[in-house]
Amino acid sequence: MPGKSLFIGILSVLAMVMVSMELSFAADSRSAVKKARNMPEIRGAIVYKAYCVLCHGERGDGQARATKLYEERGLSLALTPHPRDYHEKVIREGGTKVGLSEFMPAWRDELSDQQIEDLLYYLDVVRDPVARGEVVFKTNCVLCHGVKGDGKGRASVLYNPPPADLTRSDKNDQYKIMIITLGGATMGRSEVMPVWGEQISAQEIRDVVAYLKTILVVPAPESLPIVDE
Ligand code: HEC
Ligand code: HEC
Repeated sequence: MPGKSLFIGILSVLAMVMVSMELSFAADSRSAVKKARNMPEIRGAIVYKAYCVLCHGERGDGQARATKLYEERGLSLALTPHPRDYHEKVIREGGTKVGLSEFMPAWRDELSDQQIEDLLYYLDVVRDPVARGEVVFKTNCVLCHGVKGDGKGRASVLYNPPPADLTRSDKNDQYKIMIITLGGATMGRSEVMPVWGEQISAQEIRDVVAYLKTILVVPAPESLPIVDE
């Protein structure tokens, strides 16, 4: 019967359309999120923020709140010419062990081997705004904006309007800094986009915006240069 095969034909076309829609709307899988967050740099960044920022600064440049307390010139981890095993030794055993200041504590009793190893990974990237920004993004933004920043986070299906596809943003850096700092509602957008200004620092916001530039698949709109404080 020709009618029946036509019917089956239409059904199978429909099924194909539905599968491809499902694919293009598919949110991140749980394992994709876990994988993205399981980078040693991300774990290391958390340890660094808890224990090292106070003296070495968010950018690892020795510009920190406590810097003035110690008359040290060597707090910048950015200028360090030393290899990884030297860093490991300083971190484990403290400054005096290598002839540096006693104000650099020994961390071996406070941090686990895993934490120290993760820290060493983070020290390799702490000077790089984009790498720092990737850590900020993967720590705070992926559940909505997706591991790839394409708006397909695991929670994205809950919201209308959906989280923006940040790989195709037509907003410049200044706008992004504002919406991240002040939240969506203040900018006349969805209140689902949270206010981050009280949870992450101005430096972290500049860093995440630097990272967002690198994931764009469309040309970046013109922005004024972002200056460090
Ligand atoms: C109380 C302040 C303080 C804290 C907290 C601190 N440091 Fe230090 N750190 C110092 C001082 C001071 C020096 C030595 C500077 C000098 O003598 O030139 C130093 C030196 C270092 C060096 C050696 C740099 C080089 O190549 O010469 C590394 C690496 C280092 N710190 C990593 C860390 C890490 C990682 C943490 C967090 C777990 C941390 N520090 C926490 C004060 C601190
Ligand atoms: C709870 C979900 C959620 C989280 C978490 C979230 N966002 Fe958003 N974000 C949104 C939504 C929804 C929008 C779209 C608002 C609209 O269109 O009105 C948005 C919009 C944006 C925009 C505007 C983009 C454009 O092109 O207009 C930027 C930039 C942005 N988010 C960055 C971030 C960053 C960076 C983080 C992490 C620090 C973050 N968001 C975390 C939900 C979220």
